[in-house]
Amino acid sequence: MKKLLKFLTCGSVDDGKSTLIGHMLYNAKLLYADQKKALELDSALGSRQGKLDYSLLLDGLSAEREQGITIDVAYRYFSTDERSFIAADCPGHEQYTRNMAVGASFADCAVILVNAAAGVVVQTKRHARICSMMGIRHVILAVNKMDLISYDMQKYRKTVYEFKQFCSDLKFTNIITIPVSATEGDNLNELSANTMWYEGKPLLDYLESIDVEQPDNSYDFIMPIQRVSRPNHEFRGFQGQIECGTIRVHDEVMVLPGNEKSRIKSITTGFDKKSEASIKEAVSLQLEDEIDVSRGSLIYKGKAPIVADLFTAVILWTDNDALIAGRNYFLKCASQTITATILSIKYEIDINTGNHISSKRIIKNEIAVCDISLSENISFTRFEDLKALGGFILINKITNMTSGCGVIQHSLRRSSNISYQHFDITKTMRSDMKHQKPLAIWFTGLSGSGKSTLANALEKYLAYKKMHTMLLDGDNIRHGLNRDLGFKEEDRVENIRRISEVIKLMNDAGIITISAFISPYSADRAQARQVIGDGFIEIYVKTPLEICEQRDVKNLYKRARNNQIPNFTGINSPYKEPLNAEIVVDTMDKSVDESLEEILNGLRKFMKI
Ligand code: ADX
Repeated sequence: MKKLLKFLTCGSVDDGKSTLIGHMLYNAKLLYADQKKALELDSALGSRQGKLDYSLLLDGLSAEREQGITIDVAYRYFSTDERSFIAADCPGHEQYTRNMAVGASFADCAVILVNAAAGVVVQTKRHARICSMMGIRHVILAVNKMDLISYDMQKYRKTVYEFKQFCSDLKFTNIITIPVSATEGDNLNELSANTMWYEGKPLLDYLESIDVEQPDNSYDFIMPIQRVSRPNHEFRGFQGQIECGTIRVHDEVMVLPGNEKSRIKSITTGFDKKSEASIKEAVSLQLEDEIDVSRGSLIYKGKAPIVADLFTAVILWTDNDALIAGRNYFLKCASQTITATILSIKYEIDINTGNHISSKRIIKNEIAVCDISLSENISFTRFEDLKALGGFILINKITNMTSGCGVIQHSLRRSSNISYQHFDITKTMRSDMKHQKPLAIWFTGLSGSGKSTLANALEKYLAYKKMHTMLLDGDNIRHGLNRDLGFKEEDRVENIRRISEVIKLMNDAGIITISAFISPYSADRAQARQVIGDGFIEIYVKTPLEICEQRDVKNLYKRARNNQIPNFTGINSPYKEPLNAEIVVDTMDKSVDESLEEILNGLRKFMKI
């Protein structure tokens, strides 16, 4: 079987990625007759005055053609006498960096294009850095549009020098550089007479011969389970793709998370029984013993992957909402999905220089090193040791969109040094002694909406009913526990995170908490709900901004309007309205007693009052 090379092409918009591959395929006579015909017809109408526009071959999506750019990742399969190829053509625009990272995660080699006239630009550096981060070790720098600089050797060498300088702190082991013209075809399939000074080979030769095999001795055998198949009660097969090593029938294996031992009873691919299977094969494994295995479990042999709930990772952020420490996401690593919290942003990596910058928020397309904590242990490896188990994505819990992708650097020992201590008096015993069910009654709304007033009225009512309560209020807590926090988004995230943990403890003590915090972000309220768990009741005090501003009890709105208070909620900082609050009170035209009555009515579903 011919060896396969998976490579990606990347570079800035308009550097000629699609043209480069299109032209190379055309020259190598690797196009079907109808593709060739379509190319000639399309080109006649295109922007190159009737000359062949090779990029049309790869710009598969119609939206791309309309805008003249590549949007998604276009995968092309082709094969020469020497080798088979899958080429991922990645978009150049900065807003599509995520797609570029997806392309990079799949490839073994990157062809990075630069425009000879422009040299190394920020986007070249960004792409090179992402390629390195995603584990690519072989890079071909194609200095394109050499025709536009009259095949000037000095300029070419300057670009090559700049690129190599830039890559000195990246993890590439092999950097090949080629002067090319994607439109004219120089050095694509054959050496060009226009660059007699160039001593290397044409691009296709390199692609056909580059050796990307990496000896992988880090783990003996690992297969994450994607699916359990039970066609009948006699057969239970664990299906997945082997991520490293070889497995044979009768081999002794371990199964995570339970860490149970068994032996391989059978190996099946499709309908064929096999005596052994190796890396990248999709198989169904049968074990000799009845072991609890489900999607997300993992079968390994020999050296065990890491099992932990805390690690340090490099993250490429791709969400429009910033990455802020304290927020949580779903983390998907191999076939495991789990809740993960960004514990801290250790530093941001400057795309240009690689310098470490201290940063509290990471915006789209930036790269940062973070500590991440998981709600439970998972099995993983360092990305350096095994891509498939060392890479992950983070998913926004509210929008379900991919927020970022990351690679694990190492686990944190802290995680195995701290365990839960068991005590004999439980939450239930504590609340039974107080003859009440602990609740977390969470008021949210704009400043001046009436949260504190209503919280106070409610606590008085509950105290009268002999209930054990505690009121936590934004202004007060910010004088003590949270006096170090301001009103930037990252500070508010931390404010709500700490409050949630405090409420959780108070609920454990059997106390009913009533809290009054603006809590303007849905993500943080959702997180509070999750941390606190059962008994969380959200009350949205829905007073329109105009009314809060008219009331202006603390004279803050006036000052905010005069630009004297930065990040003031409702004025120059957002308030995201709750969509699923248990109780909504509209305080307009209502007395405190009337609003309280409405709240009590809503609360009767959850407590006897
Ligand atoms: S939260 O957004 O982080 O939940 P929190 O409820 O703790 O805010 O604090 C809000 C109180 O702080 C407001 O009622 C107001 O008195 C005061 N405050 C001072 N500056 C601001 C600001 N920039 N935005 C909102 N509230 C502010």
